[in-house]
Amino acid sequence: MQQDGDGDRINIAIDGPAGAGKSTVARKVAEQLGYVYIDTGAMYRAVTLSAIRASIAPEDGERLAAHATTLEIGLKPGEQGQKVYLNGENVTSEIRSREVTLLVSPVAANETVREVLGTLQRGFAESKGVVMDGRDIGSHVLPNAELKIFLTASVEERARRRYNEIADSQSITLEQLAVEIAERDRLDEGRDIAPLVCAKDALVMDSTAMTIDEVVEAIVKLSRTKLAEAK
Ligand code: DC
Repeated sequence: MQQDGDGDRINIAIDGPAGAGKSTVARKVAEQLGYVYIDTGAMYRAVTLSAIRASIAPEDGERLAAHATTLEIGLKPGEQGQKVYLNGENVTSEIRSREVTLLVSPVAANETVREVLGTLQRGFAESKGVVMDGRDIGSHVLPNAELKIFLTASVEERARRRYNEIADSQSITLEQLAVEIAERDRLDEGRDIAPLVCAKDALVMDSTAMTIDEVVEAIVKLSRTKLAEAK
C-alpha cells in the first residue's frame, strides 16, 4: 500500500556547517512547497538545555544517554518559525543561548542521543513532504531522501551572518564568533559517530556569494525536477 503522500511529495535533506543558512533556507523551501520543516539542530539543543538544567556534564556519556531517553521533544510550526518543546515546555528561545551553543557539540556526539533523535527524525519523515536540516540527514538519517543538498559558505561569511543575527542581544565580537564557528566545524566533522560529511549523492551549494532567496529558488527548482523524476 502506498503511504500518504508517496508519489506527489519527496523528502529534502539539507546538511552543512553552522551558519551556512540551512535553517532559513529550509524553512523557506518548506513554505514554498507546502512541506513540513524540521530543524534537527534544535532537537540537539533541546537535549543540551535539559542536560544543563539537570547538571549533567556533556562528557558524562552514561548519565547523558540515560537522561536523553526520558525526554519528550516536540516540534510545532509557528508564525515566527518552528517552536520547540521540551517535556511540553516551549523552549524555543532558551535553546539559542550561548551556553547551549557552546555545549551542544559534545552532546550531539553522544551515540544514544543520536539514536533517540534519529529515530524521532525518521518518524517525522515517514509520510514524505519534509525539509529536514542538520549535519547527517542525507548521509545517515534519511539516506533515501530524494533531494540532498550540502549547503556551505566560508567561515568568515558564516560568522558575519551569525554576528548580524545576535550582535544586539549578546556581547561578542565577529572574530570571537569566527573562532567559535571554526571550532564547532572541527568538532562536528571530527566526531566518530555520524560526523558532518557531504553525502556522496548530495549537491554541494556554496552560498558565500548568494542571497537566501537565490538559494531557496535553486532548491525549489531542483525539488520540482526530483518530484517529476520520482513520479
Ligand atoms: O544547526 P545548529 O547550530 O542549531 O546545530 C546545533 C548542533 O547540533 C551543532 O553543533 C551540530 C549538532 N547537530 C548534529 O550533530 N546533527 C544534526 N542533524 C543537527 C545538528
